[in-house]
Amino acid sequence: MIPRPGATMGAFFIFLSLLLAMALSAFFVSPVLRFFGGTVGRYLRRSSQTRRALLQSRADKERRQHENEQPAQTTRSEDDWEEVEAAVVGSAVNGGRADGDWSGIVGFFHPFCNAGGGGERVLWEAIQATQKRWPEAICVVYTGDHDVDKAAILKRVKDRFNISLYSPTVHFLYLTTRRYVLSSTWPRFTLLGQSIGSLILAYDAFTLLVPDIFIDTMGYAFAVALASLFFPDVPTGAYVHYPTISTDMLSSLDVGGQGINAGKGEGYRGWAKRQYWQLFAKLYSFMGSTIDIVMTNSTWTQSHIKSLWGPYRNRRDHLTHRDIGVVFPPVAVEELESEIEVSDTSENKRGPYILYIAQFRPEKNHTLILEAFSQFMHDKPTLPSWPKEKPKLVLIGSVRDDDDKKRVYEYRLLANELGVKDHVEFVCDAKWPEMLGWMRRSSVGVNGMWNEHFGIGVVEYQAAGLISVVNNSGGPKLDIVVDVDGQPTGFHASTADEYAKGFNKALRLPTDEMLAMRKRARKSAQRFTDRGFTEKWIQNMDKLVQLQIQRAKSRRS
Ligand SMILES: *[C@@H]1O[C@H](CO)[C@@H](O)[C@H](O)[C@H]1NC(C)=O
Ligand SMILES: *[C@@H]1O[C@H](CO)[C@@H](O)[C@H](O)[C@H]1NC(C)=O
Ligand SMILES: *[C@@H]1O[C@H](CO)[C@@H](O)[C@H](O)[C@H]1NC(C)=O
Ligand SMILES: *[C@@H]1O[C@H](CO)[C@@H](O)[C@H](O)[C@H]1NC(C)=O
Repeated sequence: MIPRPGATMGAFFIFLSLLLAMALSAFFVSPVLRFFGGTVGRYLRRSSQTRRALLQSRADKERRQHENEQPAQTTRSEDDWEEVEAAVVGSAVNGGRADGDWSGIVGFFHPFCNAGGGGERVLWEAIQATQKRWPEAICVVYTGDHDVDKAAILKRVKDRFNISLYSPTVHFLYLTTRRYVLSSTWPRFTLLGQSIGSLILAYDAFTLLVPDIFIDTMGYAFAVALASLFFPDVPTGAYVHYPTISTDMLSSLDVGGQGINAGKGEGYRGWAKRQYWQLFAKLYSFMGSTIDIVMTNSTWTQSHIKSLWGPYRNRRDHLTHRDIGVVFPPVAVEELESEIEVSDTSENKRGPYILYIAQFRPEKNHTLILEAFSQFMHDKPTLPSWPKEKPKLVLIGSVRDDDDKKRVYEYRLLANELGVKDHVEFVCDAKWPEMLGWMRRSSVGVNGMWNEHFGIGVVEYQAAGLISVVNNSGGPKLDIVVDVDGQPTGFHASTADEYAKGFNKALRLPTDEMLAMRKRARKSAQRFTDRGFTEKWIQNMDKLVQLQIQRAKSRRS
């Protein structure tokens, strides 16, 4: 156990880390050091050979056990097979089923695998997809969660995410050095410290087992780079949720920048900080450029990763897939689809209601939406689909504390002031069935937030067949409310005036066009289903498998 660095120790550690980082980048450029890396890699491979054999025989044993115990309910039903097979037709070099036999070991680097958050959901969905497509392969998760065994982890995955993994081919290897990636271990120079820590952690992982394919699902680019240094023939992948350092952060130091670091770029300390961040960004980009297949969780993340890693990746000869893709994480779209009808008959049940589902937080900008709605109402719109009914704005949100309560009160006052009190309905702390009811009865879904990274709520609007009116920025603009079959699925707006126009356009659509737009919206939401994720994941995974097969061949010959 190392002690937590104190003040003087701190400086020493920082110095050491910087040196290490320099040495590491020198590693990659210098062929001598590359040779050294290969030697270490061969050593690691040899020394973990026994564990590898053990793992394989254990998987075989568990498979047999599983088949004897539960012959009727293996997770690999015929349905699953057809589904997955259909998703990858034509993408495999040797053609479909033959590659189903690929039997390598896929290592997933996810030290916090029992955390139960959105990132973990992606990990488990990815493993499930891999298991279905390559039933002979073994998935190994490198984790630091010592206190839980396999059974407990798999049970939690089932309870928390409703994902059933096929137990015989998923295994866990326990890392002992996870403390090195905790931010508390590196009170200063945290970014660099954690990245060095991830190198230590990755080395720990490779002493346990050298996989045939190595995938990071937590954003440890340095760890993946280490893998490609030690094992040049092991294809590597990364699924990036969030860039470790973003171009926004770098520019935020500038005068007039935004955010918590605004204006800190001045003076001596500012200069030093800027140098440090820029050095780190270079290192990060360098590491990112070694990864064979890069996936990001949204267009926002993609564009940041592209601007950092892109230039470096373009200079790399060994990369056969330089592009950086988007694989959207799954959202619970299927349930909404089964609960809510979008058809001729269901149109009769929908009123001219505008729905806004959002917490009552300032950045959700309810004020703007109320103003836009009042403007829309004051123009006395005539709605051909609803000659008799009056439009209504329905605000649904949870009220978590007194601040939220106060805001709701202010919004009520504002609605009164704007003269639309009778047409605005507040629904606080609604339960799911009540929300479903509103989604069934409404026509339009609105989102007032600026620069939302993604916007799960907007995906839910689409799945429910609502026509979206959203801010012309962030995820709702780039990822969600996009054209389907060359036709719009909703409207973008920037000002209260444009929002009002959006409501007008949406609610005044002729009946058949309105239904057609709802159907397109629902189709658009398909990209965010489990199935959509699985298809994309398998396409990317297939590239890794093909690379593995090729490289293993050329190593042998
Ligand atoms: C859990 O998943 C199964 C199969 O994928 C599905 O049939 C079931 O409805 C899901 N349950 C919930 C509560 O989502
Ligand atoms: C991508 O990951 C980040 C960080 O976890 C998260 O804030 C964002 O909402 C994710 N995007 C999507 C599309 O889920
Ligand atoms: C709400 O929108 C208005 C109009 O664009 C803008 O001026 C205001 O800053 C926004 N408020 C918040 C909290 O984003
Ligand atoms: C909506 O997006 C535009 C363009 O990105 C931005 O200028 C505007 O301030 C945003 N409006 C609100 C209300 O956030």
